[in-house]
Amino acid sequence: MNDARSLVSAAAAELSAAGVPSPETDTVMLLAHAWRRSAGEVRHAMILQHDVDTDVRDRFTVLVEERARRTPLQHLTGTAGFRHLELSVGPGVFVPRPETELLIDLALPHLPRGGVLVDLCTGSGALAFAVKQERPDADVHAVELSDHAYAWACRNRDDLRLDVELTCGPAQSAFPELAGAVDVVVSNPPYVPEDMVPTEPEVRDHDPQIALFGGSCDGLRIPVEVASRAAVLLRSGGLLVMEHAEAQGESLPAAIARQGGWVDVEDHPDLTGRPRAVTARRP
Ligand SMILES: C[S@@+](CC[C@H](N)C(=O)[O-])C[C@H]1O[C@@H](n2cnc3c(N)ncnc32)[C@H](O)[C@@H]1O
Repeated sequence: MNDARSLVSAAAAELSAAGVPSPETDTVMLLAHAWRRSAGEVRHAMILQHDVDTDVRDRFTVLVEERARRTPLQHLTGTAGFRHLELSVGPGVFVPRPETELLIDLALPHLPRGGVLVDLCTGSGALAFAVKQERPDADVHAVELSDHAYAWACRNRDDLRLDVELTCGPAQSAFPELAGAVDVVVSNPPYVPEDMVPTEPEVRDHDPQIALFGGSCDGLRIPVEVASRAAVLLRSGGLLVMEHAEAQGESLPAAIARQGGWVDVEDHPDLTGRPRAVTARRP
């Protein structure tokens, strides 16, 4: 059985048995990667029951075995989609998530033409690069603490040819030269509570710990420190947009409001109605 439909169906059953959440989609993506075709072309080949060459089938088999061991799909394909971008990702960098795209929708309406945007805790550079790609007029700066993640961000900047300033260091003291001059700060900081063990093996075993844990039992130490830095960077009227865990929809806005120096602290639901992002404005 070397036809695309049979291969995908057998592999999807294997991934399903291994507890992979979206086995059919993942299988199509893995065959597309092994075959060097698009997912659309794979689906077309499945409908027509086209045969797959033996070398493609062998590459696909290895990828499916890895995925069944819960290696993240994006580590196997080497890329993650984010807004209109394909970012390179792999070991050492957080895989950007679809829910983080909400931050772009919240941020862009508040970024004036030619405005300055800072991404604190940039990882692969997902937020910074998406803003620059969608708003080439913007002056975009991003910071990342981990050397490994910073290297991935630099690679993405070079591959995507996006003119974004990247620096490696702590968000808590980033960009002193931009103090009071920034229109919008976006951030998806680490926010997982310290004693929580992520249930999904892809997250627990493959996302870097530095990308996950927020530095306190409620997970809010680093997010609150990042918000403090945003308060220094933003001009009067500037906006902070920050992602948080579903359980932090009240605690993070309350902590930011307690800091002082903010007005209009508001929480926002994602497309499924779960609280996932806070915005706050400098008076
Ligand atoms: C949840 S990941 C988000 C990455 C990226 N913004 C995204 O949405 O895909 C958090 C990132 O913050 C970085 N980080 C952790 N502590 C930091 C700090 N104090 N300063 C700057 N970056 C930090 C981690 O290495 C990781 O890349």
